Amino acid sequence: MTGRIYNFSAGPAILPVPVLEKAKAEILSLKGIGMSVMEISHRSEHFESILQSAKQGIRHLLNIPENYHILFLQGGASLQFSMVPMNFLTRAETAEFVVTGAWGVKAANEATRYGNAETNFSTAANGFRSVPARDALNFHPDARYIHYTSNETIEGVEFKYDLDGFGIPVVCDASSNILSRPLDIDKYALIYAGAQKNIGPSGVTLVIIRDDLLQIIPEGLPPLLDYGRLAEHDSMFNTPNTWGIYLVGLVCDWLKEQGGVEALQKMNEAKAAMLYDAIDSSDGYYTGHADHSARSLMNVTFRLPSEELGRQFCEEAAALGMDGLKGHRSVGGIRASIYNAFPTEGVERLVEFMSVFREKN
Ligand SMILES: Cc1ncc(COP(=O)(O)O)c(C=O)c1O
Repeated sequence: MTGRIYNFSAGPAILPVPVLEKAKAEILSLKGIGMSVMEISHRSEHFESILQSAKQGIRHLLNIPENYHILFLQGGASLQFSMVPMNFLTRAETAEFVVTGAWGVKAANEATRYGNAETNFSTAANGFRSVPARDALNFHPDARYIHYTSNETIEGVEFKYDLDGFGIPVVCDASSNILSRPLDIDKYALIYAGAQKNIGPSGVTLVIIRDDLLQIIPEGLPPLLDYGRLAEHDSMFNTPNTWGIYLVGLVCDWLKEQGGVEALQKMNEAKAAMLYDAIDSSDGYYTGHADHSARSLMNVTFRLPSEELGRQFCEEAAALGMDGLKGHRSVGGIRASIYNAFPTEGVERLVEFMSVFREKN
């Protein structure tokens, strides 16, 4: 693997090697134009075609109908925690939050600046290990929108279904599992995701927003925080992250070559199963954080018998070329992030190491 290690980092995360190679080949001169993508005008026809190709890539992979806009913004998923309520919530209105991890808590807290942000459902009491059953949720019919996080990156807890708002607009933070499986797009009013896990490099935020939502945005928002203005200008109200968008396009091409999100889902299920099997067959040496039914295919979280052994595990793994395994400080233990671009051989290597480490310790 050309001196590369296995990078289990939660994000910024591993990118597909063929994407990096293509970017490397084009870094001095893009498709024979004598400049890199970072040096050409964002208003040039060259960049216009890069932007359209990245948008088409996302639209095609996720089968997004024409009544949804695809935007490439800046400010990360964190800015979406603010932009969504700024655009869609007033003081007199309530948004309901389904909170299954730390990022959902942040999204809900941020929304309280703009209106009522009510936690409709939370798994905080059990340490964020599960997601609600499909039919367990009841929303107030007057709720302005419902917000949830389809994959909680820190706890490794993932929804296995597209949440149904039963007519209430659903907003989803899909930062850490977008493009890992097909989506039932019709269920969503707005989906956002920081790019740095499954879409491309940091510095780009993907927003997929249904057309009708653009009609109800209040007047007077700063244009860069107004989805309507951003959509009107096709993500180019100001200079976008041209390099990042270019890489998003290359990642989409690579995903298509892999067979699209249906094929990726199968690969992701197979990779995750290897790790969860290693946990489940360890006679309790390794314990998974998430309940079985909510286990993430993207972020596999588990613990060793002590935090000290966890530290040793990470150090020894890093010495063997497997890095980024330390769990988030709020959860502890280990987190193996195995996004779309993470190779099966790397998972096999980790499983082998888990077995050896357990024998020795
Ligand atoms: C699910 C989720 N939401 C939001 C964020 C925040 O993203 P950003 O750093 O792009 O603001 C992250 C970052 O890891 C995340 O995993």
